[in-house]
Amino acid sequence: MLKLSKRLQAVSKLVRDNVSLADIGTDHAYLPVFLLQEGKINRAIACDINESPLKNAAGCIRENNVSDIELRLGDGLSPVSSHEVDDIVIAGMGAENIIAILDNCAWSKDKRYNFVFQPMTRTELLREYLCESGYEIYKEICTEENSKHYCVIGARYNGNCFKASELFKALGKVPENSDKYSKQYILFQLNKYKRILSGLNRAQNSHDTSLLLKTIKEIEEIYNDYS
Ligand SMILES: C[S@@+](CC[C@H](N)C(=O)[O-])C[C@H]1O[C@@H](n2cnc3c(N)ncnc32)[C@H](O)[C@@H]1O
Repeated sequence: MLKLSKRLQAVSKLVRDNVSLADIGTDHAYLPVFLLQEGKINRAIACDINESPLKNAAGCIRENNVSDIELRLGDGLSPVSSHEVDDIVIAGMGAENIIAILDNCAWSKDKRYNFVFQPMTRTELLREYLCESGYEIYKEICTEENSKHYCVIGARYNGNCFKASELFKALGKVPENSDKYSKQYILFQLNKYKRILSGLNRAQNSHDTSLLLKTIKEIEEIYNDYS
């Protein structure tokens, strides 16, 4: 059985049972191969914009002897048709790239799909985009690997668009959890926002820091109350 990294294990937890999965930016196809080995999903379409990752994926599929997985070359969700998949994973890339992939897809705004995102950078930007575009974030899972913090976001479209608060952009649904990685993530975000504030204060420009100060206070309260 393939051994997944802790980051991809966290991603795998938000994939539903017995679905057809699209893994966008699959690289080695570790996630779909693991989920097929486990019998959690029925089939997978593993896509990548580059040919060499798909060669890695073909090797991994061969070594692990799994079937029911198709490899497709192309940008974002363009190699996939709307009726082929139920769950869509976009993991291991920056938030801007994930947003561009959603923006370029004509069919992703449909409540039948379960999305699992794992941004490597600018998670706040992705949360903001999802709220403003009518995707509900229903759960987040935090994990840590090699001293890096990762957040996995489960989302589905419900058409309810709203402007996310600074606090929600910073923490999303993480405060609803009660595990050590979520607590670490809250602290990580708190320290990041404090560093941003110090930088602005040091620059001594005319930046209005009141919203940032308010967000830091809110994160601090959540962290202190966290069980
Ligand atoms: C760092 S790897 C992540 C692999 C795997 N998803 C994971 O989380 O471990 C990012 C992969 O995304 C692919 N990629 C980047 N932009 C893409 C896009 N717009 N459409 C499809 N694949 C893309 C890259 O070629 C690369 O193989």
